[in-house]
Amino acid sequence: MNASKEKLLNDTYKTFMDVASNVIDSDEIIDEIIDKNVIGFGTTIDEKIFSLADFRKMLLAQKEQSKDLQMHFKVIPLKRLITAKENVAVIIGEVIISAKMENETVDIYLRFSTVLEYRQEKWIIIHFHASKPENVESEKDTFGIDDWKQKNEELERKVAEKTSELRQSLENLKATQAQLIQSEKMASLGELTAGIAHEIQNPLNFVNNFSELNQELVDELDEELNKGDIEEAKAIAKDIKDNESKINHHGKRADAIVKGMLQHSRKSTAEKEPTDINKLTDEYLRLAYHGLRAKDKSFNATLETDFDESIGKVHVIPQDMGRVILNLITNAFYACNEKKKETKDSNYKPTVSVSTKKEKGNIVISVKDNGNGVPKDALDKIFQPFFTTKPTGEGTGLGLSMSYDIVKAHGGELLVATEEGKYTEFKIIITDS
Ligand SMILES: Nc1ncnc2c1ncn2[C@@H]1O[C@H](COP(=O)(O)OP(=O)(O)O)[C@@H](O)[C@H]1O
Ligand SMILES: [Mg+2]
Repeated sequence: MNASKEKLLNDTYKTFMDVASNVIDSDEIIDEIIDKNVIGFGTTIDEKIFSLADFRKMLLAQKEQSKDLQMHFKVIPLKRLITAKENVAVIIGEVIISAKMENETVDIYLRFSTVLEYRQEKWIIIHFHASKPENVESEKDTFGIDDWKQKNEELERKVAEKTSELRQSLENLKATQAQLIQSEKMASLGELTAGIAHEIQNPLNFVNNFSELNQELVDELDEELNKGDIEEAKAIAKDIKDNESKINHHGKRADAIVKGMLQHSRKSTAEKEPTDINKLTDEYLRLAYHGLRAKDKSFNATLETDFDESIGKVHVIPQDMGRVILNLITNAFYACNEKKKETKDSNYKPTVSVSTKKEKGNIVISVKDNGNGVPKDALDKIFQPFFTTKPTGEGTGLGLSMSYDIVKAHGGELLVATEEGKYTEFKIIITDS
C-alpha cells in the first residue's frame, strides 16, 4: 500500500475512534467517514447498529451516560489485515477508558474491531464491533461452560443451605407448636386440678369430721362400759358404726374423684365408650367453675343447667369430649367475667347456661353465656389455632381449634352463634354411633 493511502487509513481509523469515544463530535466528519449503512455491535446487551442513524443514537446514549464523568480514552491498535486488492482493512484494537467516579479512577477495557472499505480515494467505516472483555471470567472457557457449571454448583450449594435452614426452622416451629399444645393441655389440667382439689375437699371434710366424732364416741363408749350401762354402750356403738359407714362412703367419693383426675391427665388414645353425657357435662361444669374460683376468689356466676334425661348413654371418648366441654365452659366464664369487670350496669348477672338435648336423633350440648360476644372481625378466626384475644399467659388460642378437631373426629359439628355485647352460644352436635 502506498504511503498516502496508508496514512489515510491510519488517520481515518484514529478519527473514527475519536468519534466513537465522543472526543470528536461533528456531524460532518461522521457523515464523511462512516457508511450510511454501517452495521455493528455496541457494548450493551441490545446495542445492534443497522444504520448510521442507529450509530448516532448510540453516541447520544453514550454522551448522556458519561455526562458527569471525566473520561480519558486510550486506543491501542493491535493488528490489522488488508485484503489483497487493498480495498478492505480490518483493524482490531483495545480501548482503555479511565473514568473518574466518586473520586476513584476506574479502568474499563474494550475490544474494538473495525472494518473499513476503500472507496473513491477514501476509507469508510462499514462495520465495527465493541465488547467488554471483563465480562469473560475465564481465560480458557470459550462458551463460559466452566463458569456456568461453577455458578450452578454454587447455586445448588445455596439451595441446599437454604433447604437445611428451612428444615431447621420448620422443626423449631413444630417443637414450639407441640410445646404450646402441651401448655394448653397443662392450662386446662391446672383448671381441672384446682376444681378437683375443691371436689376432694368436701368428702375429706366429712371423713375428718366423722372420724373426730367417732373418737369422742369411742371415749364415751369406754365410759359407759366402765359404768356397766350396756344399753347405752350399744346405742353408742351403733352411732359409731353409722359414722364409720359415712366415712367409708365419703372416702370412696374421694377415691372416685382421684381416679377421675387420673383419667383426665392420661394421654388421649382412648376409645369411644358409652358415656353419660349429662353427668360428664355436669362434672366439667363444676370443675371449670371451681377451677376459676380457685384462681380468682372474686369470680362469681350463676350456673343454669337443663339436662335432657332422655339422652341415655352416648358413644364418645369421655376425656376428649370432656376437654371440649371444659374449654367451652371456661371460655364462657371468662367472657362473663370480662363483661362483669367492664360493665357499668350494676344489675348485670354473669350467667352460664349449659343444656343437653336430643334433637332429631342428634345430641346437642349447648354452652351459652351472657358475656360480650365475639366481635364480627374475630368470628371467622376463633377456630384457628393460636387465635386468642386474651393477654399472654391467659390464653393459648388452642382451645377452640382443639375442640373443633375433637368434635370433627367424633363425626360431629361445633357451631357458634353470637351477638356483640349480648351473648355467645356454642353447640356441640353429635350423632350417636
Ligand atoms: N364465649 C366466648 N365469648 C367471647 N369470645 C369467645 C368465647 N369463646 C371464645 N372466644 C374467643 O375466641 C378466642 C379463642 O378461644 P380459644 O381457642 O379457646 O383460645 P383461648 O381461650 O386460649 O383464647 C378467645 O380468645 C376469644 O376471643
Ligand atoms: Mg379457651
